[in-house]
Amino acid sequence: MHVAVMGAGYAGLVTGAGLSDLGLMATCVDINEGKVRQLAEGKLPIFEPGLEELVRRNTQAGRLRFSADIPAAVKNSLVVFIAVGTNASPDGAADLSQVWSAADSIADHIEDYKIVVIRSTVPVGTAAQMRERISSRLKQPVEFEVASNPEFLREGSAVEDFFHPDRIVIGSSSSRAVGIMKDIYRHLYLIETPFVITTSETAELIKYAANSFLALKISFANELANLCDAIGPSTDVHVVIRALGLDRRIGPKFLHPGPGFGGSCLPKDTRAFCSIARKFGMSLRTIAAAVAVNDEQFLRVIEKVRQGLGSLADQAVAVLGLAFKPNTNDVRESRAVKICEALLAEGCDLRVFDPVATAPGSLVLDGRRFKCCANPYEAAEGVDALVVATEWNEFRVLDLAKLKKQMRGDLLVDAKNILDLAKAREAGFRYCGVGRR
Ligand SMILES: NC(=O)c1ccc[n+]([C@@H]2O[C@H](COP(=O)([O-])OP(=O)(O)OC[C@H]3O[C@@H](n4cnc5c(N)ncnc54)[C@H](O)[C@@H]3O)[C@@H](O)[C@H]2O)c1
Repeated sequence: MHVAVMGAGYAGLVTGAGLSDLGLMATCVDINEGKVRQLAEGKLPIFEPGLEELVRRNTQAGRLRFSADIPAAVKNSLVVFIAVGTNASPDGAADLSQVWSAADSIADHIEDYKIVVIRSTVPVGTAAQMRERISSRLKQPVEFEVASNPEFLREGSAVEDFFHPDRIVIGSSSSRAVGIMKDIYRHLYLIETPFVITTSETAELIKYAANSFLALKISFANELANLCDAIGPSTDVHVVIRALGLDRRIGPKFLHPGPGFGGSCLPKDTRAFCSIARKFGMSLRTIAAAVAVNDEQFLRVIEKVRQGLGSLADQAVAVLGLAFKPNTNDVRESRAVKICEALLAEGCDLRVFDPVATAPGSLVLDGRRFKCCANPYEAAEGVDALVVATEWNEFRVLDLAKLKKQMRGDLLVDAKNILDLAKAREAGFRYCGVGRR
Protein backbone atom coordinates (compact mmCIF):
# COMPACT_ATOMS: atom_id res chain seq x y z
CA MET A 1 0.00 0.00 0.00
CA HIS A 2 1.27 3.49 -0.87
CA VAL A 3 0.79 6.27 1.65
CA ALA A 4 1.81 9.93 1.65
CA VAL A 5 2.57 11.98 4.74
CA MET A 6 2.18 15.72 4.26
CA GLY A 7 4.56 17.61 6.51
CA ALA A 8 8.00 16.18 7.23
CA GLY A 9 8.32 17.79 10.67
CA TYR A 10 8.57 15.93 13.95
CA ALA A 11 5.25 14.12 13.73
CA GLY A 12 5.30 13.56 9.95
CA LEU A 13 8.82 12.24 9.82
CA VAL A 14 8.25 9.74 12.62
CA THR A 15 4.91 8.68 11.09
CA GLY A 16 6.35 8.26 7.58
CA ALA A 17 9.45 6.39 8.77
CA GLY A 18 7.40 4.25 11.15
CA LEU A 19 4.81 3.33 8.51
CA SER A 20 7.53 2.39 6.01
CA ASP A 21 9.05 0.11 8.64
CA LEU A 22 5.65 -1.57 8.98
CA GLY A 23 6.03 -2.47 5.28
CA LEU A 24 4.14 0.37 3.60
CA MET A 25 5.54 2.44 0.72
CA ALA A 26 5.67 5.88 2.30
CA THR A 27 6.42 9.27 0.77
CA CYS A 28 6.97 12.23 3.11
CA VAL A 29 6.15 15.45 1.28
CA ASP A 30 6.85 18.95 2.47
CA ILE A 31 6.56 22.45 1.04
CA ASN A 32 9.98 23.22 2.52
CA GLU A 33 12.21 22.13 -0.36
CA GLY A 34 15.40 22.66 1.64
CA LYS A 35 14.17 20.25 4.30
CA VAL A 36 13.20 17.68 1.64
CA ARG A 37 16.64 17.93 0.01
CA GLN A 38 18.34 17.50 3.37
CA LEU A 39 16.19 14.47 4.20
CA ALA A 40 16.79 12.91 0.80
CA GLU A 41 20.53 13.19 1.53
CA GLY A 42 19.98 11.31 4.78
CA LYS A 43 20.43 14.38 7.01
CA LEU A 44 17.80 14.71 9.73
CA PRO A 45 16.76 18.20 10.82
CA ILE A 46 15.83 16.89 14.29
CA PHE A 47 17.60 14.87 16.96
CA GLU A 48 15.50 11.89 18.00
CA PRO A 49 16.96 8.61 19.32
CA GLY A 50 16.66 5.79 16.74
CA LEU A 51 15.13 7.95 14.00
CA GLU A 52 18.23 8.30 11.83
CA GLU A 53 18.70 4.52 11.69
CA LEU A 54 14.98 3.99 10.99
CA VAL A 55 15.08 6.48 8.12
CA ARG A 56 18.29 5.04 6.68
CA ARG A 57 17.03 1.44 6.82
CA ASN A 58 13.78 2.22 5.06
CA THR A 59 15.19 4.62 2.46
CA GLN A 60 17.77 1.99 1.53
CA ALA A 61 15.03 -0.64 1.27
CA GLY A 62 13.13 1.68 -1.09
CA ARG A 63 10.09 1.93 1.19
CA LEU A 64 10.63 5.55 2.30
CA ARG A 65 11.00 8.59 0.04
CA PHE A 66 11.13 12.34 0.53
CA SER A 67 9.65 14.68 -2.02
CA ALA A 68 8.35 18.19 -2.60
CA ASP A 69 6.09 16.92 -5.38
CA ILE A 70 2.72 17.02 -3.61
CA PRO A 71 0.56 16.26 -6.70
CA ALA A 72 2.50 13.05 -7.45
CA ALA A 73 2.48 11.92 -3.81
CA VAL A 74 -1.29 12.46 -3.57
CA LYS A 75 -2.02 10.72 -6.88
CA ASN A 76 0.12 7.69 -5.99
CA SER A 77 -1.26 7.09 -2.50
CA LEU A 78 -4.37 5.41 -1.19
CA VAL A 79 -4.00 7.13 2.19
CA VAL A 80 -2.75 10.68 2.70
CA PHE A 81 -1.77 11.61 6.26
CA ILE A 82 -1.78 15.30 7.16
CA ALA A 83 0.92 16.00 9.75
CA VAL A 84 1.49 19.71 9.24
CA GLY A 85 1.88 22.23 12.06
CA THR A 86 -1.06 23.60 14.06
CA ASN A 87 0.64 26.39 15.95
CA ALA A 88 -1.23 28.66 18.32
CA SER A 89 -2.91 31.83 17.02
CA PRO A 90 -2.49 34.94 19.18
CA ASP A 91 -5.86 34.18 20.90
CA GLY A 92 -4.74 30.63 21.80
CA ALA A 93 -6.86 28.80 19.20
CA ALA A 94 -5.07 26.39 16.86
CA ASP A 95 -4.03 28.07 13.62
CA LEU A 96 -5.29 25.73 10.91
CA SER A 97 -3.80 27.55 7.91
CA GLN A 98 -1.27 24.76 7.21
CA VAL A 99 -4.01 22.13 7.54
CA TRP A 100 -6.31 23.92 5.08
CA SER A 101 -3.50 24.48 2.61
CA ALA A 102 -2.66 20.74 2.76
CA ALA A 103 -6.36 19.86 2.31
CA ASP A 104 -6.60 22.17 -0.71
CA SER A 105 -3.62 20.60 -2.41
CA ILE A 106 -5.13 17.15 -1.83
CA ALA A 107 -8.47 18.30 -3.29
CA ASP A 108 -6.68 19.69 -6.34
CA HIS A 109 -4.94 16.43 -7.12
CA ILE A 110 -7.14 13.49 -6.21
CA GLU A 111 -8.29 11.41 -9.12
CA ASP A 112 -9.51 8.27 -7.35
CA TYR A 113 -10.60 7.00 -3.92
CA LYS A 114 -8.49 8.34 -1.04
CA ILE A 115 -8.55 8.40 2.72
CA VAL A 116 -7.34 11.69 4.11
CA VAL A 117 -6.11 11.08 7.64
CA ILE A 118 -5.65 14.00 10.01
CA ARG A 119 -2.61 13.21 12.13
CA SER A 120 -2.08 16.81 13.28
CA THR A 121 -3.67 17.94 16.54
CA VAL A 122 -6.80 19.81 15.46
CA PRO A 123 -9.93 21.23 17.12
CA VAL A 124 -13.17 19.28 17.38
CA GLY A 125 -15.04 19.47 14.08
CA THR A 126 -11.98 19.88 11.84
CA ALA A 127 -12.43 16.53 10.07
CA ALA A 128 -16.06 17.40 9.29
CA GLN A 129 -15.02 20.83 8.00
CA MET A 130 -12.30 19.24 5.91
CA ARG A 131 -14.80 16.87 4.29
CA GLU A 132 -16.86 19.86 3.16
CA ARG A 133 -13.85 21.88 2.10
CA ILE A 134 -12.42 19.10 -0.09
CA SER A 135 -15.86 18.27 -1.56
CA SER A 136 -16.50 21.85 -2.56
CA ARG A 137 -13.08 22.15 -4.21
CA LEU A 138 -13.06 18.92 -6.25
CA LYS A 139 -12.89 19.46 -10.00
CA GLN A 140 -14.76 16.22 -10.65
CA PRO A 141 -16.72 13.91 -8.32
CA VAL A 142 -14.27 11.58 -6.55
CA GLU A 143 -14.98 9.34 -3.59
CA PHE A 144 -12.90 10.12 -0.51
CA GLU A 145 -13.10 9.90 3.26
CA VAL A 146 -11.60 11.99 6.05
CA ALA A 147 -10.50 10.19 9.22
CA SER A 148 -8.79 11.29 12.43
CA ASN A 149 -5.78 9.42 13.75
CA PRO A 150 -4.09 11.65 16.33
CA GLU A 151 -0.38 11.40 17.02
CA PHE A 152 0.57 10.73 20.65
CA LEU A 153 4.37 10.55 20.34
CA ARG A 154 6.63 11.94 23.03
CA GLU A 155 9.68 13.75 21.73
CA GLY A 156 12.80 11.97 22.97
CA SER A 157 11.15 8.54 22.66
CA ALA A 158 9.11 9.07 19.49
CA VAL A 159 10.33 5.96 17.65
CA GLU A 160 9.67 3.72 20.65
CA ASP A 161 6.21 5.34 20.97
CA PHE A 162 5.40 4.71 17.30
CA PHE A 163 6.05 0.98 17.59
CA HIS A 164 4.68 0.54 21.12
CA PRO A 165 1.85 3.05 21.46
CA ASP A 166 -0.49 2.93 24.47
CA ARG A 167 -3.37 2.99 21.98
CA ILE A 168 -4.27 3.80 18.39
CA VAL A 169 -7.24 6.11 18.03
CA ILE A 170 -9.14 6.07 14.74
CA GLY A 171 -12.00 8.49 14.24
CA SER A 172 -14.23 7.66 11.29
CA SER A 173 -17.79 6.58 10.63
CA SER A 174 -16.79 4.73 7.45
CA SER A 175 -16.21 1.01 7.88
CA ARG A 176 -14.14 1.01 4.67
CA ALA A 177 -11.80 3.70 6.04
CA VAL A 178 -11.57 2.00 9.44
CA GLY A 179 -10.76 -1.31 7.74
CA ILE A 180 -7.91 0.24 5.73
CA MET A 181 -6.55 2.07 8.79
CA LYS A 182 -6.61 -1.16 10.80
CA ASP A 183 -4.77 -2.84 7.97
CA ILE A 184 -2.09 -0.12 8.06
CA TYR A 185 -1.52 -0.74 11.76
CA ARG A 186 -2.08 -4.51 11.68
CA HIS A 187 1.42 -5.26 13.06
CA LEU A 188 0.61 -3.18 16.12
CA TYR A 189 -2.79 -4.89 16.36
CA LEU A 190 -0.98 -8.23 16.45
CA ILE A 191 1.08 -7.13 19.46
CA GLU A 192 -2.22 -6.31 21.17
CA THR A 193 -2.08 -2.52 21.00
CA PRO A 194 -5.55 -1.35 22.05
CA PHE A 195 -7.54 0.27 19.22
CA VAL A 196 -10.16 2.92 19.96
CA ILE A 197 -12.52 3.31 17.03
CA THR A 198 -14.83 6.26 17.36
CA THR A 199 -16.20 9.35 15.61
CA SER A 200 -13.75 11.91 14.26
CA GLU A 201 -15.03 14.50 16.78
CA THR A 202 -14.37 12.16 19.72
CA ALA A 203 -10.91 11.32 18.35
CA GLU A 204 -10.12 15.02 18.08
CA LEU A 205 -11.30 15.54 21.66
CA ILE A 206 -9.23 12.59 22.97
CA LYS A 207 -5.96 14.14 21.82
CA TYR A 208 -6.58 17.48 23.57
CA ALA A 209 -7.95 15.74 26.66
CA ALA A 210 -4.83 13.54 26.94
CA ASN A 211 -2.35 16.41 26.63
CA SER A 212 -4.36 18.63 28.95
CA PHE A 213 -4.55 15.92 31.60
CA LEU A 214 -0.76 15.54 31.48
CA ALA A 215 -0.43 19.31 31.84
CA LEU A 216 -2.76 19.18 34.87
CA LYS A 217 -0.57 16.56 36.53
CA ILE A 218 2.57 18.62 35.95
CA SER A 219 1.05 21.83 37.25
CA PHE A 220 -0.34 19.96 40.27
CA ALA A 221 3.14 18.59 41.05
CA ASN A 222 4.60 22.08 40.65
CA GLU A 223 2.08 23.61 43.04
CA LEU A 224 2.82 20.85 45.54
CA ALA A 225 6.53 21.65 45.24
CA ASN A 226 5.82 25.36 45.71
CA LEU A 227 3.83 24.52 48.83
CA CYS A 228 6.71 22.41 50.17
CA ASP A 229 9.02 25.37 49.55
CA ALA A 230 6.65 27.58 51.53
CA ILE A 231 6.31 25.13 54.43
CA GLY A 232 10.06 24.68 54.70
CA PRO A 233 12.72 21.99 55.00
CA SER A 234 10.56 19.63 57.07
CA THR A 235 8.78 18.66 53.83
CA ASP A 236 10.15 17.05 50.67
CA VAL A 237 8.03 17.06 47.52
CA HIS A 238 9.75 13.93 46.22
CA VAL A 239 8.53 11.90 49.15
CA VAL A 240 5.01 13.31 48.74
CA ILE A 241 5.04 12.48 45.04
CA ARG A 242 6.46 9.01 45.51
CA ALA A 243 3.66 8.21 47.93
CA LEU A 244 1.10 9.75 45.56
CA GLY A 245 2.43 7.80 42.60
CA LEU A 246 2.23 4.53 44.50
CA ASP A 247 -1.53 4.99 44.57
CA ARG A 248 -2.59 3.09 41.46
CA ARG A 249 -5.50 5.45 40.93
CA ILE A 250 -2.98 8.27 40.45
CA GLY A 251 0.16 6.66 39.00
CA PRO A 252 3.73 7.99 39.13
CA LYS A 253 4.08 9.52 35.64
CA PHE A 254 4.08 13.25 34.89
CA LEU A 255 4.32 14.19 38.55
CA HIS A 256 7.85 15.61 38.53
CA PRO A 257 8.15 19.18 39.71
CA GLY A 258 10.31 21.61 37.77
CA PRO A 259 10.19 24.90 35.89
CA GLY A 260 6.93 24.03 34.10
CA PHE A 261 5.94 22.23 30.91
CA GLY A 262 7.22 23.38 27.53
CA GLY A 263 7.69 21.93 24.07
CA SER A 264 5.67 22.15 20.91
CA CYS A 265 2.54 20.46 22.28
CA LEU A 266 1.40 20.95 25.90
CA PRO A 267 1.56 24.78 25.97
CA LYS A 268 -0.30 25.23 22.68
CA ASP A 269 -2.70 22.31 23.16
CA THR A 270 -3.87 23.40 26.62
CA ARG A 271 -4.59 26.90 25.29
CA ALA A 272 -6.32 25.50 22.20
CA PHE A 273 -8.42 23.16 24.37
CA CYS A 274 -9.65 26.15 26.42
CA SER A 275 -10.43 27.93 23.18
CA ILE A 276 -12.40 24.93 21.84
CA ALA A 277 -14.46 24.84 25.04
CA ARG A 278 -15.19 28.59 24.78
CA LYS A 279 -16.58 27.99 21.28
CA PHE A 280 -19.10 25.61 22.85
CA GLY A 281 -19.95 28.05 25.66
CA MET A 282 -17.85 26.23 28.26
CA SER A 283 -14.96 27.26 30.41
CA LEU A 284 -12.34 24.59 31.21
CA ARG A 285 -11.37 26.02 34.59
CA THR A 286 -9.02 23.22 35.62
CA ILE A 287 -7.02 23.48 32.39
CA ALA A 288 -6.95 27.28 32.56
CA ALA A 289 -5.53 26.96 36.09
CA ALA A 290 -2.87 24.51 34.90
CA VAL A 291 -1.85 27.02 32.21
CA ALA A 292 -1.76 29.90 34.71
CA VAL A 293 0.42 27.91 37.13
CA ASN A 294 2.72 26.97 34.26
CA ASP A 295 3.10 30.53 32.99
CA GLU A 296 4.62 31.55 36.33
CA GLN A 297 6.53 28.44 37.35
CA PHE A 298 9.81 29.27 35.60
CA LEU A 299 9.84 32.65 37.38
CA ARG A 300 10.27 30.79 40.67
CA VAL A 301 13.61 29.53 39.36
CA ILE A 302 14.66 33.13 38.66
CA GLU A 303 13.53 34.14 42.17
CA LYS A 304 15.67 31.36 43.67
CA VAL A 305 18.72 32.67 41.82
CA ARG A 306 17.91 36.24 42.88
CA GLN A 307 17.44 35.26 46.53
CA GLY A 308 20.62 33.17 46.50
CA LEU A 309 22.73 35.96 45.00
CA GLY A 310 21.05 38.96 46.60
CA SER A 311 20.53 40.58 43.20
CA LEU A 312 20.76 39.57 39.54
CA ALA A 313 22.26 42.52 37.66
CA ASP A 314 25.81 41.86 36.46
CA GLN A 315 25.94 38.40 38.05
CA ALA A 316 27.38 35.58 35.98
CA VAL A 317 25.04 32.58 35.68
CA ALA A 318 25.48 29.26 33.89
CA VAL A 319 22.41 27.40 32.61
CA LEU A 320 22.72 23.69 31.84
CA GLY A 321 20.13 22.66 29.25
CA LEU A 322 18.22 24.52 26.56
CA ALA A 323 16.06 21.75 25.02
CA PHE A 324 12.56 21.55 26.48
CA LYS A 325 13.30 17.98 27.58
CA PRO A 326 16.20 15.52 27.25
CA ASN A 327 16.89 13.50 24.08
CA THR A 328 15.66 16.19 21.74
CA ASN A 329 17.06 19.36 20.20
CA ASP A 330 13.59 20.95 20.25
CA VAL A 331 13.59 24.31 22.07
CA ARG A 332 10.03 25.32 21.18
CA GLU A 333 8.41 26.87 24.30
CA SER A 334 11.30 25.46 26.34
CA ARG A 335 11.25 26.62 29.97
CA ALA A 336 15.06 26.50 29.89
CA VAL A 337 14.98 29.13 27.13
CA LYS A 338 12.51 31.20 29.17
CA ILE A 339 14.86 31.00 32.16
CA CYS A 340 17.73 32.20 29.94
CA GLU A 341 15.64 35.05 28.53
CA ALA A 342 14.60 36.18 32.02
CA LEU A 343 18.19 36.07 33.34
CA LEU A 344 19.39 38.06 30.34
CA ALA A 345 16.59 40.60 30.83
CA GLU A 346 17.72 41.01 34.47
CA GLY A 347 21.21 41.90 33.25
CA CYS A 348 22.98 38.60 34.00
CA ASP A 349 26.06 37.53 32.12
CA LEU A 350 24.93 34.15 30.76
CA ARG A 351 26.83 30.98 29.84
CA VAL A 352 24.89 27.98 28.51
CA PHE A 353 25.51 24.36 27.67
CA ASP A 354 23.16 21.82 26.02
CA PRO A 355 24.35 18.46 24.62
CA VAL A 356 22.44 18.80 21.32
CA ALA A 357 20.25 21.90 21.16
CA THR A 358 23.16 24.31 20.55
CA ALA A 359 26.66 24.23 19.19
CA PRO A 360 29.42 26.10 21.04
CA GLY A 361 29.58 29.74 20.00
CA SER A 362 27.63 32.83 20.68
CA LEU A 363 23.85 33.00 20.52
CA VAL A 364 21.32 35.80 20.72
CA LEU A 365 18.02 35.64 22.65
CA ASP A 366 15.71 38.65 22.76
CA GLY A 367 18.46 40.77 21.19
CA ARG A 368 20.96 39.87 23.92
CA ARG A 369 24.17 37.96 23.24
CA PHE A 370 25.45 35.09 25.42
CA LYS A 371 27.99 32.30 25.22
CA CYS A 372 27.21 28.66 24.43
CA CYS A 373 29.91 26.42 25.85
CA ALA A 374 31.36 23.07 24.81
CA ASN A 375 30.62 21.29 28.11
CA PRO A 376 29.12 21.93 31.57
CA TYR A 377 32.51 22.64 33.15
CA GLU A 378 33.33 25.35 30.62
CA ALA A 379 29.88 26.84 31.22
CA ALA A 380 30.60 26.96 34.97
CA GLU A 381 33.85 28.94 34.56
CA GLY A 382 33.78 32.04 36.77
CA VAL A 383 30.01 32.05 37.37
CA ASP A 384 28.24 33.04 40.57
CA ALA A 385 25.38 30.57 40.16
CA LEU A 386 24.55 27.48 38.15
CA VAL A 387 21.03 26.48 37.08
CA VAL A 388 20.13 22.96 35.88
CA ALA A 389 17.21 23.54 33.50
CA THR A 390 16.90 20.28 31.48
CA GLU A 391 17.18 16.77 32.92
CA TRP A 392 19.76 15.37 30.48
CA ASN A 393 21.19 12.13 31.89
CA GLU A 394 24.73 13.47 31.61
CA PHE A 395 23.83 16.20 34.11
CA ARG A 396 22.85 13.54 36.66
CA VAL A 397 26.44 12.29 36.78
CA LEU A 398 28.32 15.61 36.80
CA ASP A 399 31.55 15.78 38.80
CA LEU A 400 30.16 18.28 41.30
CA ALA A 401 33.50 19.03 42.96
CA LYS A 402 35.06 19.83 39.57
CA LEU A 403 32.06 21.97 38.66
CA LYS A 404 32.27 23.90 41.93
CA LYS A 405 36.01 24.53 41.43
CA GLN A 406 35.29 26.21 38.09
CA MET A 407 32.87 28.67 39.67
CA ARG A 408 33.35 31.99 41.43
CA GLY A 409 30.23 31.48 43.56
CA ASP A 410 28.55 28.50 45.19
CA LEU A 411 24.85 28.68 44.31
CA LEU A 412 23.32 25.65 42.59
CA VAL A 413 19.67 25.93 41.54
CA ASP A 414 18.50 22.49 40.48
CA ALA A 415 15.27 23.36 38.66
CA LYS A 416 14.74 19.68 37.76
CA ASN A 417 15.66 18.08 41.11
CA ILE A 418 18.05 15.65 39.44
CA LEU A 419 21.13 16.10 41.63
CA ASP A 420 21.88 14.45 44.94
CA LEU A 421 21.31 17.04 47.62
CA ALA A 422 23.90 15.63 50.06
CA LYS A 423 26.56 15.27 47.35
CA ALA A 424 25.96 18.82 46.17
CA ARG A 425 26.48 20.12 49.71
CA GLU A 426 29.56 17.95 50.14
CA ALA A 427 31.01 19.55 46.99
CA GLY A 428 30.57 22.96 48.65
CA PHE A 429 27.37 24.11 46.94
CA ARG A 430 24.49 26.01 48.44
CA TYR A 431 21.87 23.70 46.91
CA CYS A 432 18.39 24.88 46.04
CA GLY A 433 15.95 22.45 44.46
CA VAL A 434 12.21 22.62 43.80
CA GLY A 435 10.16 21.68 46.85
CA ARG A 436 13.11 20.13 48.69
CA ARG A 437 16.09 21.58 50.52
N1 LIG B 1 6.10 17.34 17.77
C1 LIG B 1 5.46 16.48 18.52
O1 LIG B 1 6.01 15.93 19.47
C2 LIG B 1 4.01 16.15 18.26
C3 LIG B 1 3.42 15.10 18.99
C4 LIG B 1 2.08 14.81 18.77
C5 LIG B 1 1.35 15.57 17.86
N2 LIG B 1 1.96 16.58 17.18
C6 LIG B 1 1.16 17.37 16.25
O2 LIG B 1 1.60 17.09 14.93
C7 LIG B 1 1.48 18.27 14.11
C8 LIG B 1 2.83 18.59 13.49
O3 LIG B 1 3.73 18.93 14.53
P1 LIG B 1 5.30 18.99 14.28
O4 LIG B 1 5.95 19.22 15.59
O5 LIG B 1 5.71 17.83 13.44
O6 LIG B 1 5.36 20.33 13.37
P2 LIG B 1 6.58 20.89 12.53
O7 LIG B 1 6.39 22.36 12.50
O8 LIG B 1 7.86 20.30 13.05
O9 LIG B 1 6.38 20.31 11.05
C9 LIG B 1 5.36 20.70 10.19
C10 LIG B 1 5.86 20.52 8.77
O10 LIG B 1 4.77 20.68 7.87
C11 LIG B 1 5.26 21.34 6.71
N3 LIG B 1 4.12 21.92 5.98
C12 LIG B 1 3.40 23.03 6.26
N4 LIG B 1 2.41 23.20 5.38
C13 LIG B 1 2.49 22.17 4.51
C14 LIG B 1 1.73 21.77 3.37
N5 LIG B 1 0.69 22.48 2.96
N6 LIG B 1 2.10 20.66 2.71
C15 LIG B 1 3.16 19.94 3.11
N7 LIG B 1 3.92 20.26 4.18
C16 LIG B 1 3.58 21.36 4.87
C17 LIG B 1 6.25 22.35 7.25
O11 LIG B 1 7.13 22.81 6.26
C18 LIG B 1 6.92 21.52 8.36
O12 LIG B 1 8.06 20.84 7.86
C19 LIG B 1 0.94 19.37 15.04
O13 LIG B 1 -0.44 19.43 14.93
C20 LIG B 1 1.34 18.87 16.42
O14 LIG B 1 0.50 19.39 17.43
C21 LIG B 1 3.28 16.87 17.35
